[in-house]
Amino acid sequence: MNWKKYVVSVVAFLLVVSMIGASGVSQTLSAADADGAALLEQHCASCHGLGRTTNARKTPAGWEATVIDMANRIANRDDLEDITEADQAILIEYLAVNHGLATVTVTLADMGLEFGAIENWQASLYAGAVAGEETSGRFTDWITVTEDAVVFSLPVHVREGGEAPWDDYAYVRIRREGEDVYPTFDMVSDPFTLGESDYAVHFGIDSEYKSEPSGTLVLPWAEITVSLEDWGGEFGTPDQWETSLYTGTVPGDETGGRFTDWVAADDGSVVFQLSHEDAPWGEEIYIRVRPVDRVDDYPQFDLVGRPFTLEQGYNVETKITWQRTAVDGALYDVELSAPVSEAKGAPETTVTYTLTLSNTGAEGEWFDVTVCCDVWETEVVPESVWLAAGESETITVTVEIPDAGTLKSDGVCDTITITALGRVGRASDSVDLKTCGTIIQSIFLPLVMRSAN
Ligand code: HEC
Repeated sequence: MNWKKYVVSVVAFLLVVSMIGASGVSQTLSAADADGAALLEQHCASCHGLGRTTNARKTPAGWEATVIDMANRIANRDDLEDITEADQAILIEYLAVNHGLATVTVTLADMGLEFGAIENWQASLYAGAVAGEETSGRFTDWITVTEDAVVFSLPVHVREGGEAPWDDYAYVRIRREGEDVYPTFDMVSDPFTLGESDYAVHFGIDSEYKSEPSGTLVLPWAEITVSLEDWGGEFGTPDQWETSLYTGTVPGDETGGRFTDWVAADDGSVVFQLSHEDAPWGEEIYIRVRPVDRVDDYPQFDLVGRPFTLEQGYNVETKITWQRTAVDGALYDVELSAPVSEAKGAPETTVTYTLTLSNTGAEGEWFDVTVCCDVWETEVVPESVWLAAGESETITVTVEIPDAGTLKSDGVCDTITITALGRVGRASDSVDLKTCGTIIQSIFLPLVMRSAN
C-alpha cells in the first residue's frame, strides 16, 4: 500500500463514520425503506457492485427505466432469481426517494445592497401552493445563501420527515433571513416541474426607498411612485408589469389586502395618488409587482416590496430593480469513458488506462475520482479536478499486477470501478476496468534452452 492510497482510505473512513453519526444510527428505516434496501442487496449486487446504484442519482422516471432494464437482464439469466413486478415497484420507490435527483441552484445578487449582505438572505422551495395560502407548501428548510448561491440537492435537503414532491410544481421563494412573516421583501420564481431535470434560478434585486415631506403644508394625500426595472430583460419591458398596493395582510392570506387597482407600469413607473378617504394612513403598506394579464393566482413570478408606513403629507418614491433568469436542463452532468477497459500484463508490471472525464453539464464543477473494490495496487491521477462546462480532462489509472505466486493463489484478474462524482450537483458516472495477469508456464523454458546447448 503506498502512502497516497493510505491517506485516501483514512479520509474515506472518517467520512463514513461521520455520516453514520449524523444520520445512520439514530434514524430508523421505515418498513418500505428496509424492504427496498434488502431487495437492492438481494438483486442488484450480482453483476456489478452496489456502488453502481448507490452512487447514481436519478429522477423517478430514470429509476423506473433502470430497474426495468436490469429486471430484463436478470430475466435473461437462468442463474438469477427474477424480480417480481411488486418488488420492482418497491425498488423504484426506494431508489427515487433515497437516490433521487434534482438540483435547484438559486443564485442571488443584491445589486444595490440596500438589503444588506447576500448572506442575510435565505431561499426555500415550495410546492402545491394554493392562492391565498402562499406561505404554506414549503418542503425544504430555509437555507442561507453562502457564496451568492444556495444549492438544493433533492431529496437531501427536504425537511425532516418529508419527501420531495416529485413531478409536482415547485417554486423558489427568497426572503430576508428569519422573516417568515408576510409581507416582507419577498420574491417568488415561476413554477417548474420537479424531477425532470436540474434547474438554476438567478435572482438579482435592488430596491430604493425614499420618503420626503410633500411641502410646507401637510397635504391630505400622499403620492407613491413605484418604478420598475428588469435588468435581465427576460420578462420583457416594464410596461408588461403591473403593480398595486396592499395593507393589513395576514400570513397565509397574502393576496388579500389590496386597496388599489392593478396599474400597468407603462413608461416604467406608476404613480399612486392616495386621497384622504381611501388611504390607510398610519398603517404599513407594501407594493406587489406581477406580470400584466396574469390571473391573480399564486405561485407566479411575484415580488413584494418592503413594508413602509403611510403618512399624510409624505411622498414616497420606491424603485425596484430585479433580474431573474432560469435555466432548465442538465446543470450538472458528467461522463467518464474508457476507450480500453480490459488489459493484460505480465506479473510485476504496471498496466495504464487512459480515461476521459467530461463535464457535460451547464455549470463548472469539481469532480472527485475514486476507485472501488481494487485488490491490486491502483492509483488514480488526478483524484479531483475542476472542469468548466464542456471541458474534458484525462484521468490516468495505473494498476500494478502482483507477482506470479500471488496471481496463482489469489486469482489472475482484478476488476475495479472508477467513479467520478460532482461535488455540488452529485452527478456521477463510472467505468469498470478489468486487468488480468498472464502467467508464463516457465517449466518448458529450461528444457528448450538445454537442447539448444
Ligand atoms: C444480470 C446482471 C445485472 C444485474 C443483476 C443488475 N445489473 Fe445493473 N447493470 C448491468 C450491466 C451489464 C450494466 C451496464 C449497462 C450499460 O452501461 O449499458 C448495468 C448498469 C447499471 C447501472 C448504470 C447504468 C444506468 O442505467 O444508470 C445502474 C444504475 C444499475 N445497473 C443498477 C442496477 C440495479 C438497481 C439492479 C437491481 C435491480 C441491477 N443493476 C442489477 C447488469 C446487471
